[in-house]
Amino acid sequence: MKKVKALLIALVCMALVGCSSQPKETGVQTEGKKKIGVIQLTEHTSLNMIYDSFVEELDNLGYTDKVTIDFKNAQNEMSNIPSIVQYFDANKQDVVVTITTPVAQGAMALTKNTPVVFAAVTDPIAAKVVTDLEKPEGNITGTSDMVQIDEIIDLALTIQPDIKTMGFIYNPSETNSVSNYERFQAACNDRNIKMEVTSISTSIDLQTATSALLPKVDAIFVPNDNTVAEAMPVLAKLAKDAKVPVYTGADSMVMDGGFATIGIDYVALGKKTAEIAVQVLEGTPTSEIPVYVFKDDLYITINEGTMNELGLTLPSEIANNEKLVLVK
Ligand code: TRP
Repeated sequence: MKKVKALLIALVCMALVGCSSQPKETGVQTEGKKKIGVIQLTEHTSLNMIYDSFVEELDNLGYTDKVTIDFKNAQNEMSNIPSIVQYFDANKQDVVVTITTPVAQGAMALTKNTPVVFAAVTDPIAAKVVTDLEKPEGNITGTSDMVQIDEIIDLALTIQPDIKTMGFIYNPSETNSVSNYERFQAACNDRNIKMEVTSISTSIDLQTATSALLPKVDAIFVPNDNTVAEAMPVLAKLAKDAKVPVYTGADSMVMDGGFATIGIDYVALGKKTAEIAVQVLEGTPTSEIPVYVFKDDLYITINEGTMNELGLTLPSEIANNEKLVLVK
């Protein structure tokens, strides 16, 4: 009977929190430890890489035994975010770390009482999480993963000089993707490339959207959109079968079967996010920590298997580039 009661209580708690709530990392001894709440939008390769390197860097900095981490995954359900935020508001944390734009936006409601450190917000100004990257007011700062759209389109043109039409797939409810869409439009206009744009609202839509798009385009570009990233292997397989190269806004999407990108190192981003969280735990006001925008140290990532299936070869300037990373 006792067991049944405990189970019921556990179920009610889970329902109240409205999400799966397995702490990935909890200390047994919690007294005197600082509390870090983490909210991750969903599971996909890049977000998992960010979280793992965040935890690893906390360890490198000697914080494993000094903190407890309460990890929540919103399962890519926007409606889960407010309940997780309320949960962390009620169980006061020393810092809340958010992974992705939609979660950072939702966590604005927390900033009255709790400092927030965001990871991988593509365009923090457009997302309205800060108004000034150098002096973030409002108890929130973090890291940003700007997408190098011009470089990526130029990479595509170096490999496929005859591109006339490029496809673009995104979820318009992600502010990060809307901002990339606008920059993609400008980049295509500058280069006289025609665009075919398709929007999706869940990753389940990706298969149908991709199939409809493929016959109309010479290549596809997908930004670092969380909804697309969740189902990247589906898109990658359809595109390979149709012999259409997919250029992406993140290296993880190449690891998941896409063809190529130029972009940042997300492991470094996870580490930097940990450094900022530690600064906040040690008492530095968030307004004194500028948003760290990853944009300088860029890598070309190419999926060799995909390249072979597409029957493409790399021009020597790419093949010999010291920033080239080949993945399988
Ligand atoms: N930048 C994304 C956002 O603002 C989050 C993100 C990080 C991402 N890495 C990614 C999305 C890789 C897609 C693929 O929400």
